[in-house]
Amino acid sequence: MKFITVENYEILSRKAAAIIAAQVIAKPDCVLGLATGSSPIGTYKNLIEWYKNGDLDFSAVSSINLDEYTGLDGENDQSYRYFMNNNLFNFINIDKSKTFVPNGKAQDIKAECEAYDKRINEMGIDIQLLGIGLDGHIGFNEPDEFFTKETHQVTLDPSTIEANARFFQSIDDVPKTAITMGMGGIMSAKKVLLIANGSAKKEIIEKAFFGPIDPKVPASILQLHPDVTVIFSEN
Ligand code: GLP
Repeated sequence: MKFITVENYEILSRKAAAIIAAQVIAKPDCVLGLATGSSPIGTYKNLIEWYKNGDLDFSAVSSINLDEYTGLDGENDQSYRYFMNNNLFNFINIDKSKTFVPNGKAQDIKAECEAYDKRINEMGIDIQLLGIGLDGHIGFNEPDEFFTKETHQVTLDPSTIEANARFFQSIDDVPKTAITMGMGGIMSAKKVLLIANGSAKKEIIEKAFFGPIDPKVPASILQLHPDVTVIFSEN
């Protein structure tokens, strides 16, 4: 594991974007595993800027996102599909038909999850970007008695609902369930890049990367991955 501590969010975002940009340059038809939440917004801003400058070309790139709230369609401004379109895809030359986010409105959630895992296996993720929740969740893999391998539906932890309420009008509007890529999909990525900032995340980062591997701290499974980079900024 490479653990990089930086001074602030701006530097963190530039470094994370540089790692993703290097992947796109080295393999123009790579598969990017992408994340939502507030942490990657700065990373995406840099990628958009470098695309606009002519330094990056996303025309052959595909992407697979980690998760989506159940019950929200892609037009809903709280959905993760909407987030991806409006924080990245609409501003770069990626072919949107090659960008995948779980369908939160699927009639048959089980079939949607199985199809998502099939897609992950077929496409293969070159680099997976991750944030981390305050309870150690990655994607929406919440603390549990065991790690779940497959893409699956989860009931969100009350602390996750509370943490994500800032994006909604009221806490009651936060969906209670979501579809998330499982640990199998995340661990199958050739490279993993996890970014976290703020003093509130310090404790969980220490637990996840320097404590025991424990499904109660979902991100701790990444200690078993052969190519993980963590970029952390306390500010
Ligand atoms: C959500 C997402 C995660 C993300 C986490 C942290 O729960 N499902 O993928 O890592 O929030 O979000 P933030 O980066 O806003 O702290």
